[in-house]
Amino acid sequence: MPRELDQQLDNRPAPSKSEANAQAQANDVAQVSDQAQTNDQTETTVKDRFSVDGLRVFEALRTPVIDQITRHVSVRSFDSERQLPEGTVEMMMAAAQSASTSSNFQSWSAVIIRDPERKQKMQELCDNQRFIGQAPLFIAFCADSSRHKWVTEQKGYPFGSNYLELLLISVIDSALACQNAALAAESMGLGCCMVGAIRNHARDVAKFLELPDGVFATIGLAVGYPSSKNEVKPRLPQSVVVHEEKYSTTTRAEGIAAYDAVMQKTDIYKGRKIHIPGLTPDPEQDTAPYGWSEHTARRMARGNDMRRDLAVFLKEIGFVLE
Ligand SMILES: Cc1cc2nc3c(=O)[nH]c(=O)nc-3n(C[C@H](O)[C@H](O)[C@H](O)COP(=O)(O)O)c2cc1C
Repeated sequence: MPRELDQQLDNRPAPSKSEANAQAQANDVAQVSDQAQTNDQTETTVKDRFSVDGLRVFEALRTPVIDQITRHVSVRSFDSERQLPEGTVEMMMAAAQSASTSSNFQSWSAVIIRDPERKQKMQELCDNQRFIGQAPLFIAFCADSSRHKWVTEQKGYPFGSNYLELLLISVIDSALACQNAALAAESMGLGCCMVGAIRNHARDVAKFLELPDGVFATIGLAVGYPSSKNEVKPRLPQSVVVHEEKYSTTTRAEGIAAYDAVMQKTDIYKGRKIHIPGLTPDPEQDTAPYGWSEHTARRMARGNDMRRDLAVFLKEIGFVLE
């Protein structure tokens, strides 16, 4: 992110008392790197990610894992000629299977798609996002309750877990697995983009991947060598997202305003303003500042018609939503 974005945040909200205390304590063990203008890529990255808060980098607490995580950017442009080294999938899956999993149920599965024609079909099913066909690897992470139904039946018990929790457990497990896999890939120098659009045509995806009842694709993951990379995307300030002891909205408005100011300066929303006929100005007159809150509000106002009947499909394949 350009340094000017960092600089224009000088009127960022003052840290709360608890934040100030936490910082004072950490100063005892950590050398605070406020100078920060080193050549260290990672330090710059952390500062960029949290530029709204002006989050400090506590040197003594920095680890390669934190460095790796905070360097993350979604990659949507891949070198389609460059194949992945042998063992990439196996190592990613080892990371995925190492994620915490509710009750060790391991309620997820992954379908690996490398065949170019099948990848192309997945692209079509996922909002025709071009990077999916471009990436040498696409993984469909699935919430999977089928194994548990199978073992329960094998052991001769009635299945007594048909309620919403079964869905939540498997969705959470699949997301944790996907995140671990993505992080592993990023640590190998690969780029990834998660694909929620895999739920746009959930029924067709299930048919194409031959998913049994009780299994549905929650997140896709496109993986490959990046041919270009976006800059690190700043996140909401911690004052908005992190609550000390009790949930509080005290700093929400000012925190979001500060975030808007940062996001407006990037080109993230360039060409991506959402137009909702009757609700938003005509595109040529839509010149007011457009940041995260405007974009998010418009997305929420519009909704996603392709996912409105997901509950119907989930019920069809055996999930209970109550
Ligand atoms: C569950 C999930 C679904 C996503 N689906 C898509 C998608 O379909 N297409 C896409 O381009 N990005 C998708 N993303 C990526 C987000 O847009 C991205 O993570 C977010 O904008 C933050 O940017 P960053 O990852 O570069 O920091 C998805 C991310 C998640 C976690």
